[in-house]
This record gives sequence, structure tokens and C-alpha cells, in this order.
Amino acid sequence: MSNAGVFLPQEMIRTKRDGGTIDAADIEKFVAGITDGSVTDGQVAAFAMAVFFNGMTPDEGAALTLAMRDSGDVMDWTKFGFEADAPIVDKHSTGGVGDKVSLMLAPIVAACGGFVPMISGRGLGHTGGTLDKLEAIPGYDPYPSTERFAEIVKTVGCSVIGQTGDLAPADKRFYSIRDVTATVESIPLITASILSKKLSAGLNALVMDVKFGNGAFMDSFEKAEELARNIVRVANAAGVPTTALLTDMNQVLGRTAGNAVEIFETIEFLLEPKQADKRLVCVTLDLAAHMLALSGAQPSYDVARDKAALALMKGDAADVFAKMVVAQGGPADLYEKRDEYLKLAPVVKPVKAAKAGFVTGMNTRAIGMAVVALGGGRTDPAAKIDHSVGLTQICQIGDRVSADDTLAMVYARDDAAAEAAIKSVRAAIELGAAEPNIEPIVAQTIGE
Ligand code: URA
Repeated sequence: MSNAGVFLPQEMIRTKRDGGTIDAADIEKFVAGITDGSVTDGQVAAFAMAVFFNGMTPDEGAALTLAMRDSGDVMDWTKFGFEADAPIVDKHSTGGVGDKVSLMLAPIVAACGGFVPMISGRGLGHTGGTLDKLEAIPGYDPYPSTERFAEIVKTVGCSVIGQTGDLAPADKRFYSIRDVTATVESIPLITASILSKKLSAGLNALVMDVKFGNGAFMDSFEKAEELARNIVRVANAAGVPTTALLTDMNQVLGRTAGNAVEIFETIEFLLEPKQADKRLVCVTLDLAAHMLALSGAQPSYDVARDKAALALMKGDAADVFAKMVVAQGGPADLYEKRDEYLKLAPVVKPVKAAKAGFVTGMNTRAIGMAVVALGGGRTDPAAKIDHSVGLTQICQIGDRVSADDTLAMVYARDDAAAEAAIKSVRAAIELGAAEPNIEPIVAQTIGE
């Protein structure tokens, strides 16, 4: 449509409905209307449905992303004394079960010269959220002022905080309308939604962890790959160098799922990395190396990977995590007194294997929902959660077990909740006679 006259949202919607291309100026006006309420819910829904069916060109996707990013505050790190090209870098995961990677990744990258201003989310549905996990640490403040956030990033190297209403407010309204109009599952809209929020942190590089498999938001590999390619294309078009890793979420990541239990696993990962879960180490170091190389904090992927491994093994990353916790109001002796600070639920029971065999598969989503049912996750964004419940010692695909061996430990508030979780987790873990193939956790890297 022409921009010459008054902007009419219905004309822009008509163009998209009929398979045409819309220009950046109109997209900006439409997004301004989403933010100030002058575009109606019906128009937002109709636009979302038109995009759902007809898609967007890379230029349209970039324009939508930038307009949504600019609908609220965008961090300008030069105001806080950073060089314009400082290695300010983040990672975003599309979410999974047991995905505590951000907690170890941010300190590793910070220990190797990157600056990580990480704006994290809460868990929703079967997936956990980094913010919920951090709130299991007494005193941890996920909402420092912008000045304090910048100071922590500058002095410690990383700060993990929650999203405030000032960041990408257009996405908040747009997403809530998509949620009730069957238009969430649109690659260009998901891309703009994720990137508008991430890019409002003023990043110079981004690494995406796009998960596929039965515990992921996108369960098919093909769809996840399409999303990853689109995010890389749009983010690069928006001027932020981006790489995406496609990673396997056909089983719980690491050995714990919940909130306080995942902080325990994080601390143990940082203090005793040689004993840490190998898949968790592999994906964390791979993401760290890409973040460091892409942002220019390290000269190449190979150098970055060695540095990241060294920072983990020498305990530098553990030091950074401890400093970040203190800077955000948490206890200085968290490592030494973790058993006192991280409260675990009182009823602890094993999930026992019904027969001998190999763990051949896992219904990862069902395991995530078992944690939700224990009270450790939410299906309503405003619901309160219980940080003390969850699962530990979760088996992995390929483990050989005897009858009555422990497949996982349940931490529950009471016996009834524990029994229900035991039933769900046992049903979600497949045992078979033949040793299964173990798929690598990082299936593909896009955008190198
Ligand atoms: N996560 C987001 O932030 N936005 C979407 O549209 C889908 C998943």
C-alpha cells in the first residue's frame, strides 16, 4: 500500500492477506498502534493470521523485529562507558526441560572476556525458566535498576535479570493476542517476538539454542531448523551477528529438573566440572565458544572453546557466578552453605525401574509436566511456584539399569504428590533390551 495518505491498518492487513509485500514504514506504524492501543485487537489478530498463512520476506521480518524492539527501552551500552563494539553478547534458548545452561554459560563467557547482559524468562508449560531457578537463591534480586544492571555487567562480566514491562511492550500485547487466536506457530512472528526482546538488551552478537525433540517447543527437527534459519537471517539483517545451534531435547538436559535442584546442579557443575553431565558440558562449551568468537571477545571458535574449557576447569567461571550472586543480593557463602540456603522439599522418594534394560527413550514433555504437577512450574503466567520440588539423578538415554534401580529421585511436598510424580516419571521413561544409539546433543550449527 502507499504511505502517502493516512495510515489505515486494514489496508496493510489486506496487502498481507493477498500475499503482497508491506513496507517498513507501515510496519512501524502498525507496531506503534499495537503499543499505544490505536490498532484494535481484531486488527492485530487479522494481521497475525495473514502472516500465519502468507509468511514474511526477510526485509519485512527485520522491519517487524526492529519496530517491536524499538517499542520500548533499548539498552545503549556506550552510555555506561562501553565501546560501541564491545563484546556484549547473549544466548537465547527456545526452552526445554532441565535447561540450566544459561546459569553456567554466562559466567564462563564473562570469565573469557565477554559481557553478558542476560534477560531471562520464567517457565511456562512444561519448560523451566532461568528466572524461576535463580529465585530459589535467597536474596537474589532479578530486577535491579538499569544503572545497577549495567554496573554488574561491567564489573562482574554478566548479570542475569528478569524482563521488565519497559522492554518490547509491543510483543507483550501482540503475543497475548496470538496466544488466543491460534497464531503463535508462525515462524516470522516467533522470530520477531524472540528477537525484539533479546535485541532490546543492545547486543553486539547473539547465539540461539533452538531445541528440537519431544521436550521442545518445536518438536520436529525440520520446523526447528526453519525457525533457526529464519532467526539467523533476520537478526543478521537487523545488524546483530547471530549463530544458531540446533540441540537435542529428546531427553532432560543434565540430571535435574526443577528450581533449587537445578541451582544445586549448576553449583556442582561449576565446582566439579569433571564430574558434570557430559551432554551439559558439551552444549555449554559449544555455546560459549560461539558467543566468544562471534562477539570478538576471542579471535576464533577454536581458541574460544579452549579458553572456555579452561575457565570452567580452573574455577574462574565458578568465581564469576559467585560474584554475580552477591552483586544481585544473594549470599556470599552460597557454595559452602548451599544445603542450608537451597531448600528442598521434605518428601524424597525414588522412581524405580520396573525391569532391567537400557533407557531407550524419554517422554521429556511428560517429565516437565510432572515437575509442574509437583508445583515446580506453571501453566498460568501469574501463578506462584514451589522452588523446593523437582527431580534429581534423572537417568539418561543409553543408561543400563537393573530392576529396582533408581531412574530419578522425586522431591515433593507430600506423599500424594510424590506418588503421582513417581507414576508419571516411570511412565515417561522407556526401557528396552537393545542398547540405543546416542544422538549428539548439538545436531547442527547455522550461520557460521
Ligand atoms: N517464545 C517467544 O518469546 N515468542 C513466541 O512467539 C514464541 C516463543
